[in-house]
Amino acid sequence: MKKLLKNCLTADGKVDILIENDKYKAISKVGEISEDVDEIINFEGKIVIPAMTDPHVHVRDLEQSDKEDWESCSNAALKNGITTIFDMPNTIPPTIDWDSLLLKQKMAEKSLIDYKLFLGVDPDNLIELDSILSANLNEIAGIKLFLASSSQNEIIDDKITLQNLFRIAKSHNLVITVHTELQRCLDQVDLGKDEYDATDHNNLRPRKCAIEGLKLILDVAANIGTEIVICHVSTKEELELIAKSKKKGQQVYCEVTPHHLLLDESKTKEFGNWAKVNPPLRTKEDNEALLAGIKSGVVDFIGTDHAPHKLEEKSRAYLESPSGFPGVETALPALIDLMLNNKITLKELVQLTSTNINKLYKIDKEMKIGNKVNLVVIDPKEKTIIDVKNFVSKAKYSPFEGSVFQGKIVDVIYTGKTEKQ
Ligand code: DOR
Ligand code: ZN
Repeated sequence: MKKLLKNCLTADGKVDILIENDKYKAISKVGEISEDVDEIINFEGKIVIPAMTDPHVHVRDLEQSDKEDWESCSNAALKNGITTIFDMPNTIPPTIDWDSLLLKQKMAEKSLIDYKLFLGVDPDNLIELDSILSANLNEIAGIKLFLASSSQNEIIDDKITLQNLFRIAKSHNLVITVHTELQRCLDQVDLGKDEYDATDHNNLRPRKCAIEGLKLILDVAANIGTEIVICHVSTKEELELIAKSKKKGQQVYCEVTPHHLLLDESKTKEFGNWAKVNPPLRTKEDNEALLAGIKSGVVDFIGTDHAPHKLEEKSRAYLESPSGFPGVETALPALIDLMLNNKITLKELVQLTSTNINKLYKIDKEMKIGNKVNLVVIDPKEKTIIDVKNFVSKAKYSPFEGSVFQGKIVDVIYTGKTEKQ
């Protein structure tokens, strides 16, 4: 079966794409492919990008399948142009040893798209972690480390354990992905109020705690030489620290979420706990700094931090309500809008959503001859209105609710899981 996709506007210019048996057979300047084909689709006026790899997804499932499961999560992602997800380990049970990993692997078989799994850390069981990593499993993305409590996660913040962990990762050539808010800093925060609501969140988890944790991690990683990803960078100061470390040659990568890039803490007034997330939404100045970080190349990739909870849980009083919201259904629409409003270029969009992350994790899903077809087709003239009622995710709420984004994903051409990732 041969298909020709004509007039596709890509980051590398306008091309025709020949597909044979679900794989790219040729990618050429418009009009250059003259083979007989079974079907021609004209994408004149449409933009075509590789589907997104999302390195930060809390799929849940297992004992929290009421919040989300592999089928609902991967389906929500796929419909919105994401065809690889990296699952986080703070599940019940947490993915920290062989038994829990085997359980997770079984669940993940339900995924409709490619995936990788992060391992969490049990500070008393680094030996088992080492043994899992020695097995060189293809689907292990790396290690996720939390310096603060967020949702069912172990906290590690003592320097000796961190050093041991970083040595293990280095010996396996693995990247450690870090949530840098520092618990001992958060524990000292006392606003002295009798009652709290979501508008206090940014003050209760202040920027200084994310900055302090980042300094600690940059230092440990630099001394041992371990590669690190800093998750959901939310402040100008963190960005500056990362830029400085990169300049010095440290291998540190910067992940930014669509919500920290585009929303500020005023959303907690509008949406209450729906906008409660860790790290918190910050300020407009931080939004601008993150955008500037994209333009200067300090930001390496976008992760959604898709963190589904039950609507009923999000409706509880602020202190009892869990942090996080779904992200896989709003990420690409929001970023496409940013691109169509000329805040980022098409090239930057592709680098942030696929090229850079795929390169770091050696995922070969680029638009190139021989690879399986993995494309998102965008109509720049249509609009996307975010309506949580239409979410495929089980978590039907979002601080992006009601957003009107320029552009619409009109097709996702994904021809199945990649054989070996
Ligand atoms: O808001 C968040 N929710 N931040 C995290 O780091 C964890 C996540 C979750 O798992 O719910
Ligand atoms: Zn997360």
